[in-house]
Amino acid sequence: MGYFRDNIEDMGGYVPGYQPESGDVVKLNTNENPYPPAPAVMEALAGIKPEQLRRYPDPVGNEFREAAAKVNGVSPENIMCCNGGDDLLTIAMRSFCNSNRTVAYPVPTYSLYPVLAKLQNCKAIEVDFDKEFNLPAKLSSSGAALTIVCNPNAPTGSFIDTAELASLADELKGVLLIDEAYVDFAEDNCAGLVKKFDNVIILRSMSKGYCLAGMRFGYAIAAANLIEGMMKVKDSYNVDTVSTVAATAAIKDQQYFKGNVEKVKNERKRTIGELTKLGFEVPESFANFVLAKSKDYKASEIYDKLVQLGIYVRYFDLPGLTDKLRITIGTRQQNDKLISALKEILAK
Ligand SMILES: Cc1ncc(COP(=O)(O)O)c(C=O)c1O
Repeated sequence: MGYFRDNIEDMGGYVPGYQPESGDVVKLNTNENPYPPAPAVMEALAGIKPEQLRRYPDPVGNEFREAAAKVNGVSPENIMCCNGGDDLLTIAMRSFCNSNRTVAYPVPTYSLYPVLAKLQNCKAIEVDFDKEFNLPAKLSSSGAALTIVCNPNAPTGSFIDTAELASLADELKGVLLIDEAYVDFAEDNCAGLVKKFDNVIILRSMSKGYCLAGMRFGYAIAAANLIEGMMKVKDSYNVDTVSTVAATAAIKDQQYFKGNVEKVKNERKRTIGELTKLGFEVPESFANFVLAKSKDYKASEIYDKLVQLGIYVRYFDLPGLTDKLRITIGTRQQNDKLISALKEILAK
C-alpha cells in the first residue's frame, strides 16, 4: 500500500502560471493587476502593531466582513473571509462534495476545479460550452451537489447575464457557486442573487481588482445558512491579521479601486484593437485578460518566442485552447512591448 490515498497517487497537481525570478520581464501570465495597491493599504500595513502579530487573528475577520457587506449591499453574516478565492473553492468542495455527491461546471474553465474534485474523490461532470460560451442548458439537469459557473469565465473572458444565472439557481437542487474572481472588470455581478436564493454562493477575490494577489484574500457572499455551514469546514484561522488589515483598507477605498479598474478596462480595449490589427481573433472580454486566437501561427510557437523575448503569457495544452494564448492586460508600456514583440515574431 502506498502512503497516499489512491486518488492523490493517481492525480497531477494544479500547475500555477510560471513566476519568473527576475523582475526584468513582462509578466502577463497570471492575471495579476499591473498597478500597485491603494496607498491606504500600505499605510494600514505600516500601522500594524507587534501586539497584533503576537495574538491570533480574528477567526472570522469581522472588520473585513462589515466593510465587504457595505460594498455589496448585504449583511456581515452574508460574508465569509477566505485565504484567497481558491480557499473558498476548497471549502465548498469539502462542504458539498464526496464520492457520492458530484460537482458540475461548464468547460473550458478554471483548471483548478478538476484538481479539487480529484482531491475530494468526487466525480466532475464537465459540460461543454458552445462556440459563443453560452450557459449550457444541460447544466441544470446534471444532478450535481455543487455547480460552479465562472463568470466572467477564465480563460475565455466571456460573461453570462445575471438573469440566466438566476434561472439556473432556481432550477438547481444543489448549490450554485458563481466564481466572480474577475467580476470587478465586468459591468454587472450576481451579489443580489444571495437575497433571493438560499443556494447561491458568490466567490470574490482581492487578487485582481484590488491588486493584492500576494496577500491571499478572498471572500464568499451567500445566505447566512450557507455561510454558517461553511464556517464549520474552513480552517479555524484561515485569514491572518496582516492580510485582513490590507484587504479591509483596500475594499474601503472604493475611489482608488474604481479608478484602477477603469485604467485596466481602457487598456483592455486598446490591446484588443492592436491584437486584432495583427490578425488575432479576440472575443470581447469582461475580465483583466484576453484570449487571442492566432489564425496563421501555432499558439505554442508564439508562446515560446515571446518567452525568449522575456514576455510571459499563458498557453494551455487543453481541449479547445491549443490555438489560443491568454494574455493578462498589463500597463500601457507592458502591452506596447507585447504588441511590438508579436509584430516582430509574426513578421518572420
Ligand atoms: C477563475 C478564478 N477563480 C478564483 C481564483 C482565485 O484567486 P485568488 O485565490 O487569488 O483569490 C482565480 C485565480 O487566478 C481564478 O482565475
